[in-house]
Order: sequence, then C-alpha cells, then structure tokens
Amino acid sequence: MKVLVIGSGGREHALVHKLKDSTKVNSIWCYPGNAGISCIAQIPNIADPSPSSLAEFADSMGIDLTVVGPEGYLAEGIVDAFQERGLVIFGPSKAAAQLESSKAFAKNLMAKYGIPTAAHRVFSDFASAKAYIENAGAPIVIKADGLAAGKGVVVANSTAEALAAAEAALTGALVGEAGRRIVVEEFLSGEEVSILALCNGTNCLLLTPSQDHKTIGEGDTGPNTGGMGAYSPVPVVDKALEDEILNTIIEPTLKALHQEGIKYTGVLYAGLMLTKSGPKVVEFNCRFGDPETQVILPRLKTDLLELLLASCEGRLHLLPPPEWDPRPCVCVIAASKGYPGTPETGFPINGVDRIESWDDVYVYHAGTAFQNQQLITSGGRVLGISSLGNDMQAALDKAYQALEDLSFEGMYYRKDIGWRAL
Ligand code: AMP
Ligand code: GLY
Repeated sequence: MKVLVIGSGGREHALVHKLKDSTKVNSIWCYPGNAGISCIAQIPNIADPSPSSLAEFADSMGIDLTVVGPEGYLAEGIVDAFQERGLVIFGPSKAAAQLESSKAFAKNLMAKYGIPTAAHRVFSDFASAKAYIENAGAPIVIKADGLAAGKGVVVANSTAEALAAAEAALTGALVGEAGRRIVVEEFLSGEEVSILALCNGTNCLLLTPSQDHKTIGEGDTGPNTGGMGAYSPVPVVDKALEDEILNTIIEPTLKALHQEGIKYTGVLYAGLMLTKSGPKVVEFNCRFGDPETQVILPRLKTDLLELLLASCEGRLHLLPPPEWDPRPCVCVIAASKGYPGTPETGFPINGVDRIESWDDVYVYHAGTAFQNQQLITSGGRVLGISSLGNDMQAALDKAYQALEDLSFEGMYYRKDIGWRAL
C-alpha cells in the first residue's frame, strides 16, 4: 500500500516510523515532513498546502491511505476534500473536528448530553463575562473558543487575572480571532491524563493511557507549550478507571455526536482531569496527541496500519484490543531557547547519529531541517527522545543519558518528566 502522512512534528515522525513496520506498506510519503522524516519517507514538493490540492496529489499518486496529524488541516476540512474524491483518509470530518476547533461546541455538546466536564458559560462580550467572573470568583479558567496552539487557555488564580485574560481574548490581543468568543469554566483539580481512542461512528478501541507535561517549567510551572514530555502507561489509570472513562466519556461523546447527525472517524483524544468526583473532560482533541504519540507508538505491538484501516472501514468492532509492550515509555522534548515564545533557530545539532543506534531509544524530529547536509534547528520543539525501560526510572535514565549526548545552542529540556508517576 501507498501511505501519506500529513504533518511535520514528532508525532508525524513517530507515525511514519511505525507505519513503515507494517509489511503491507510498500511506500510512504509525508507532507510537509522534517529532516528526520525525510530520511525514512518521500517528501513531495507541493506548492499549495490546501486540502483540495493535497487531495489532488494523493489521487494522482494512487495513495491508498492518508493519515492526518495536525488539527488545522482537519478543521479546514481535509477529510471532506479527500472523501469527495473517494480517497481513504484517517481523521474526522470538518463537522466532527469541531470538538477541538470550537471549545464552545464541545462544551455545549457535553452539557446537553450529561458528559462529565467543568461547568461553563460562553461569552462574546466583555460586560457579561465580567459580571459572571466577578460573581463566580477565582480560581477560574478562561478559554479562547477557537484553535490557538495551546496558547488560548488561562487558569486564573485571581478575579483580576481572569478579567484581564477575558478582555485580552475578546479584544483579539491574546490569540486573535480565535478568542473573539470565550468559554469561562469552573476550575478542576486533580491529576491529568490523556485517553486516545480509535473511532468509527459509535465504535471505538481505547489506546494505552498516557500523560503529557504541558508547561515549560519544572514542577509543571510556567506558560503552556505544545508539550515538553510524556509517559505511558499512567499508573493511576487502572482497568476499572479505563472502563469508567470508556462508559461515561468516550462512548457517550460518540453517541452524542451521532444523535447530532455527525459521524466521528479518527482519533478522539480526551484530555481528562481525575477529580475527587470522577474523571471529567478538560478538552477534546480530534487527532493523535503530540508528544503522547511518541510514547504510545513505541509500546504498540499490533500493526498500526491494520488499526487505522479498520477504523476507516468501520471494522473496529471486529478487532481484539491492541497489544502493548508492558514496559513503560517516556519522551523528553529538547526545545530551542525562547520557546514557547519566539524560538532562536538555525543552530547545528550534534549527537543524533550516535544516540539513534541505542537499543530502545527513538529520536523523533520536530523542528529540524538540513542545511548543506548539516542537521540544524528550525523550530521551538526540536527533537523528542523516547525511551523504553523495564520500569519508568530505567526509561527516564536512558532518555536523559541520550540527551546528555545531544547538543545544540540554547538546548533546553525539562529534567522532571514523569515525576508524578515515580
Ligand atoms: P486545554 O487546552 O483546554 O487542554 O487547557 C490547557 C491546560 O489548562 C490543561 O491541560 C489544564 O492543565 C489546564 N486547564 C484547562 N481547563 C482547566 C480546568 N477547567 N481546570 C483546571 N485546569 C484546566
Ligand atoms: N499534548 C497535547 C496535544 O497534543 O494537544
């Protein structure tokens, strides 16, 4: 089969790497890709990255399956554009992707169908938001409605901070148009976990639980990023809790969408808070997580291609649950100086060749490029080092040992990935 992966991050490097393991994959393409991906997949030269132009490319090349990484393409309707041409593509339609592209859509759906989540209100004018926030008090959470690459959420510890965030969002100063409508939400406390499920309509298969570290600073402090590291499995999520999440959150959400006339195909990613009164939804994403994918796929023993095809073809209910390597996997992200603000890039990266050959270590590229055959940094998150170990500590020791062998100017990584699990 010919497979095309869309995206350019560590998640897409992990997807390409795993899909290549399938005996049924004869050739693999990735657009736009990155330096690491270009070593294991073909990178097409496509001038116009619109959904229709990508669909035209896939059609002309006879691509049998396309797998979409980033939410932006899904929100733009890439799945609809491919399906109009009769092409097989893994991901939700534009309508289904609203679960991520509009927080107001997701919250209203959850409220309507009784899916556990924080109490919320939606506002488009500051005066009403202000009255509500002053009455509710802090802590309180302010969220831009639209896609904001992780920068649209402010967990406010005072009313003043909440009002400032609401005003910044509504005036467009926080994240532009994405913040012209906001969700104001009850603060939830507890441990966070990411549960990803492969879905087709109301059928689904849960993937192994994982947890990411969203903030830049150690001890989970400082501004949010795309994710600075992750680990899997998550010790607090046992089989009983997984069943509870499936029965109270994942399946009810798929059924709710079905009731609304929307069929969901692809990954449903539930970001959950494990509160004293049970798991509650913090957010939905409509795709594989990054860097969660970089700790989930190294543990996957089942053929990924088969799982994705079964999802696209509506055969998930015929499959046994995926098989997992029992060993834990961790991923530590090496980022550029300045990230999550403006990263300083263009610096040579040393050491990748050495650590790539280590057993049970995976070097996933994100913001990398080749310049005159030299590997250089080209983005905020540069590389993700994933490692499997007999226990979490062994996996972490190996990942950190690998990072010591790696260098580029301004390289930063968190030294406390997995601290909650230890
Ligand atoms: P989101 O983009 O909605 O996942 O929010 C980003 C991060 O903000 C989450 O991973 C949480 O750490 C935090 N957060 C979001 N909503 C809440 C909430 N209602 N209560 C507490 N923390 C939250
Ligand atoms: N790791 C968070 C995300 O993929 O959105």
